[in-house]
Amino acid sequence: MKIAFFDTKPYDRPSFDRFASETGMKIKYFEARLSEDTVDLCAGFDAVCVFVNDVINAPVIDRLAALGVRALALRCAGFNNVDMQHAYGKIHVFRVPAYSPYAVAEHALALLLTSVRRIHKAYIRSRDFNFSLNGLTGFDLHGKTVGVIGTGRIGRVFSDICRGFGMKVLAYDKFPAEGFADGDAVRYVTLDELLEHSDIISLHCPLTDETHHLLDATALSKCKKGVVLINTSRGALVDAEALLEAIKARHVGAACLDVYEEEADLFFEDNSGHILEDDTLARLISMPNVIVTSHQAFLTEEALSNIAETTVKNLTVFFSGEGNPNELCYSCGFAQDCGGKRCF
Ligand code: NAI
Repeated sequence: MKIAFFDTKPYDRPSFDRFASETGMKIKYFEARLSEDTVDLCAGFDAVCVFVNDVINAPVIDRLAALGVRALALRCAGFNNVDMQHAYGKIHVFRVPAYSPYAVAEHALALLLTSVRRIHKAYIRSRDFNFSLNGLTGFDLHGKTVGVIGTGRIGRVFSDICRGFGMKVLAYDKFPAEGFADGDAVRYVTLDELLEHSDIISLHCPLTDETHHLLDATALSKCKKGVVLINTSRGALVDAEALLEAIKARHVGAACLDVYEEEADLFFEDNSGHILEDDTLARLISMPNVIVTSHQAFLTEEALSNIAETTVKNLTVFFSGEGNPNELCYSCGFAQDCGGKRCF
């Protein structure tokens, strides 16, 4: 089985080499992303393995199918970068639905603590022997209300951590999780109620047509003054320009962003020698109350190992002819895990 692996980074290879070597799978690592410009590199391969910023649109899918590539293995959970409707019937798509919800939830919390206790400022100051505390006053998380949008695997772990800090959780989900609400400690509310009453808001829902710019200017205006916003989910859940305006207006108190709408051309790469063309991102990064990490929430040893193990298994199970519950398909009219039915 020959796999073309796109958008390779040095931290991807050790775990994939380890799990692939147990199966006889041959992996060719490409640094390039999969796109219309690079899809011809897939000639002669049985499957391709991609990450969050590879572009698998209709022309790429058609070309992959024409080249005889039968499977597309996403080494991530989100699949908003794949035209799933177009893929149906042409190429089998697999994902890693869960690899470490703890990695992402703990990163969200790390960003939150860094922001509210001004650790990013203190770290820089003390390196310069500036031991002044002026401007570093934070606030207790204990007793605050956190709004969690999306109570799937990551949102629930994040909520549990917040409860450990003594915070109250207001949850919003299109499909509330059974048994998750817990009296006054965790309450499902409408999105508007969550926006209105939360001191901190953390996004943990997928990016879909429905959730695109879920937090736009109108939604942000409904938030409490001083709200801290955390986005470790997908950049386009937040209208970045509206967020910038809300920060400039002192309405949003702080933003912790692991993802950004226009991240595809920037994140995961060293752009330190370049002039940043994206004025919105440059302005956001320049703010003292904005912390940006470059889609790093997943990056733990445990998550990398789980991602490689599941991805290799997704492909070996598929090529052995068995059904795989991690297959995504569009047979029911929208993209979802197909439960191993091998719908086409
Ligand atoms: P999940 O599928 O377990 O949970 C997503 C939740 O969002 C579900 O409960 C679902 O009902 C809910 N949801 C769906 N549509 C909604 C809507 N319109 N409004 C409100 N809620 C809605 O997914 P999981 O594993 O918790 O991941 C959440 C997101 O985190 C992923 O979609 C992905 O975008 C992001 N992620 C980010 C990573 C990073 O490194 N920054 C790594 C892994 C995931």
